[in-house]
Amino acid sequence: MSVGNLPIRDARIENVLERLHREAAGDPWKIATRIPLLGWAAARKRLYDREFDRKFFHDLYIPVSREQGAMLYLVARAICARRIVEFGTSFGISTIYLAAAIRDNGGGEVIGSEFEPAKHERALRNIEEAGLAEYAKILLGDARETFRSVAAPVDMVLLDGWKSMYIPLIDVLKPKLREGAIVLADNIFTFKRTLRPFVEYMQSGQNGFLSTTLRISDGFEFSVFVSAKAK
Ligand SMILES: C[S@@+](CC[C@H](N)C(=O)[O-])C[C@H]1O[C@@H](n2cnc3c(N)ncnc32)[C@H](O)[C@@H]1O
Repeated sequence: MSVGNLPIRDARIENVLERLHREAAGDPWKIATRIPLLGWAAARKRLYDREFDRKFFHDLYIPVSREQGAMLYLVARAICARRIVEFGTSFGISTIYLAAAIRDNGGGEVIGSEFEPAKHERALRNIEEAGLAEYAKILLGDARETFRSVAAPVDMVLLDGWKSMYIPLIDVLKPKLREGAIVLADNIFTFKRTLRPFVEYMQSGQNGFLSTTLRISDGFEFSVFVSAKAK
């Protein structure tokens, strides 16, 4: 079995990723049946409520694409990442790409985050099935709280949870980033308006990052932390 042109050479990981990407392909059908719920929440300005969130997203994977997964793995390998922080774990697809890189770099940890208990449990099982349990831990709860306990130095960050939280979370993580750390942020095109302030923040040169939007999948913001050297 093979997941596209996956750079990870490990049948156990490939099999789990193949199954998860296949299961995630069912997301659009589930979303289609929930359009009335979406309309109801939008009309009441409750799109960011925990209650709506639970009903709408509890069983959706909404993962990174295979191409993004391959890129996550390769970037983490290129910078020899040993500590990677992930905002938004869901069922663990992106976590598995990142944990594979950590393992192949010689060890370290991915610190994921998920506030939906059922997803948290499933992610742990999927990571275990891929044989990567010793390279990943998933913090259960709101990442704005749980990330405060993350130790420095952080080599790489994936932002893939709710979009209004990208800037607050970068503020929490920035003091822990090492020089040259990479931040990848998903859905730049999907949530163009919501993420405009984030893109401006990363690309302004005023906040310690050099950054560009890559036309990969739903738009991947690729940023390098250069701290005081940012121009
Ligand atoms: C787009 S999905 C992540 C997909 C995952 N990165 C992958 O590739 O499989 C976003 C996830 O972030 C979680 N999430 C959103 N906001 C969060 C927060 N503040 N703290 C922890 N988890 C959060 C949601 O429950 C959801 O499962």
